[in-house]
Amino acid sequence: MLSIKQSPLRPPGPKTPWFGLPLLREMRRDYLGFMQRTHEAHGDIAYMRHGPEHAYDLFSPELMREALVDNAEHFIRWERGIEVFAEAFGQSVLVTEGDTWKQQRRMLTPVFSARHIAGYGALMTKAAERSLNDAVPTHESSALVDIEALMACVTMEVIMRVLFSSSAQNDARDAATATQILSASAISDMYWPFSVPTWMPWPGNTKKRWGFRTLRGLVNRHIDERKRGTTPDASTDDLLAILLAARDEHDPTRGLSDTELRDQCMVLFQAGHETSATALVWWARLVAEDGDVSRKIKRELDEVLQGREPTVADAPRLDYLQATIKEAMRLYPPVAALMSRRAVRDVRIGEWTIPRGALVRIAPWVAHHDARWFPDPESFRPERFVASAESPPRGAWMPFGAGPRVCIGQHFAMLEMTLIAAMLMQRYVLSVDSQQSLRPAGMLNVTLRPSGGMRLRLYRRASVNDAAAPSD
Ligand code: HEM
Repeated sequence: MLSIKQSPLRPPGPKTPWFGLPLLREMRRDYLGFMQRTHEAHGDIAYMRHGPEHAYDLFSPELMREALVDNAEHFIRWERGIEVFAEAFGQSVLVTEGDTWKQQRRMLTPVFSARHIAGYGALMTKAAERSLNDAVPTHESSALVDIEALMACVTMEVIMRVLFSSSAQNDARDAATATQILSASAISDMYWPFSVPTWMPWPGNTKKRWGFRTLRGLVNRHIDERKRGTTPDASTDDLLAILLAARDEHDPTRGLSDTELRDQCMVLFQAGHETSATALVWWARLVAEDGDVSRKIKRELDEVLQGREPTVADAPRLDYLQATIKEAMRLYPPVAALMSRRAVRDVRIGEWTIPRGALVRIAPWVAHHDARWFPDPESFRPERFVASAESPPRGAWMPFGAGPRVCIGQHFAMLEMTLIAAMLMQRYVLSVDSQQSLRPAGMLNVTLRPSGGMRLRLYRRASVNDAAAPSD
């Protein structure tokens, strides 16, 4: 940690007896609630101390962008968070800093260009089709479906097809469990100052070892098969093919080393399915609860698609559907708090100087629920995001982060979610079967999970005239 220079003037913030350790306990129990209360009590920037750390929380769009965009080069990500992520993702683009990160980001950016993403579209719909068709057993007209499991399965199938031209069928269950174990253990590790090596006997380490073995095994197997040329039906458009061919534009002789290739595949696999799955879970629940929204989506789908499967070219014409997804990510941003940043020199943010060595924290959740930017913030109102609506101030809606480290997969994710949501709505009417709370789990995970899971009843469209089915 950098040594901190004391600043005489600091923004207001909560009192921090016992070196602020009770605050840490409160944050661990209910991070988002804590951030919201801090904002209400102290305004758009708050200062607090816990242990040796001096932390500044930024809540307004301007201040968040000043840190993430205008002063990005004066911050690094919080070392402990990076250390924990490095355990799973090695030295990949999510983890590295400085020149190494710049070079990796440069090499990966074309992989997510509009041209390549257009190629992934067909792989996405092909992948989603089977899992969505099977969500309700063929002989049934409806089923109570575990939406978290369904979305995890669909998005995993998508990322497996797009990355490796392969189906997740045989690996899906283990890979989903491994992802959940590793996400939960990553967050809990972040509250400790160091990680106990995974080979040591320690609570949770057996599960963690299994999780790493499962995911690394899956990624390594696919890369090895591709290199041996034994992948049947390998698409020349899939992500692995593009990564293998990727060259640094500043040094065209430089491709990804074997280790880099494995690390990038691990990160794209994990980051590429868990976040989109989480967004779709909240979206499905919000749509299930709102008959008007549901009918408007269906009308748009009928007009634009006339019963056929959606394609990449259709996505921009599904304006209302995309607005429902954006609004769902406003209310329930999958990454509700960004990785904390540390100032590597004194940085001026608003009227305050954040001293070198201090931490800056940004939780998009708070701005997303701020009535100044989103009137009646707790209501689900997709109209806020339709093309003709006035945009919220820049930075008020930030589900993908901002600045140079903005999500590299944001356009991929928007396309994927649009195609999956369209295909789900073409097949089923979504309905809330029993009252389950729409509350996120108190202890923050890597992504924002619903407390107590989420089940919805899915009625086949062909059977919506059944007396039991809700009208659509
Ligand atoms: C709804 C879906 C998604 C959401 C909400 C999301 C959100 C985010 C956010 C907020 C960040 C920045 C974190 C920070 O600044 O601390 C990020 C970074 C990243 N995301 Fe996503 N993401 C999504 C989908 C994806 C997909 C589909 C991929 C890849 C296939 C992906 C790959 C990455 C990578 C590699 C980074 C690190 C970029 C860097 O540090 O340069 N994400 N994501």
